Amino acid sequence: MEVIFVTSNEGKYREVRAIGKKYGINVGWMRMEYFEPQGNDLEEIAKISAELLSEKFQSPFFIEDSGLFIDSLNGFPGPYSSYVFKTIGNEGILKLMKDVEDRSAHFLAVVAYWDGEKVHTFSGRVDGRITDEMRGCEGFGYDPIFEYEGRTFAEMGEEKNEYSHRRKAIEKLFSWLSER
Ligand code: IMP
Repeated sequence: MEVIFVTSNEGKYREVRAIGKKYGINVGWMRMEYFEPQGNDLEEIAKISAELLSEKFQSPFFIEDSGLFIDSLNGFPGPYSSYVFKTIGNEGILKLMKDVEDRSAHFLAVVAYWDGEKVHTFSGRVDGRITDEMRGCEGFGYDPIFEYEGRTFAEMGEEKNEYSHRRKAIEKLFSWLSER
């Protein structure tokens, strides 16, 4: 089975392709940027983005929207994770978190699959904490500052795919697809 993943983010594509291999699913890459509405709800953002994008596609595809939610910052950057990463980045987040005791945070991923008629969404979450400094050199985005059970995602390499929010959301999509 082949499914098309629409994303401009190579890091995401690599992870999803590796997860697909475990399910015998070939993940094709449509590398492109698309419009994402602003809002506070990742699921709503992913659903609307996929619906808008479906006007350009004849066949099924999926997109994925994710974010980092930091408890002591009331869930910031959350749905604004992409903009915050581009502007203040990991250094900026670490500055905001300087001397903050509660470092708990989670990643959330929402996958929105367009089946040719409507959108189906699947979500995944992983809980961890924000480190005091960047650690590790693999992965992308906030991986060097997000620690899960003692190691940052950037220190884990491919093993991140065992625990990540994306893995959980994609796994739901892939098992749903294989049951259809
Ligand atoms: P978006 O889903 O493409 O809007 O991405 C949201 C932001 O969160 C981007 O800056 C990503 O780099 C970051 N992000 C999403 N997933 C991950 C992840 O698994 N690790 C680290 N950063 C991530």
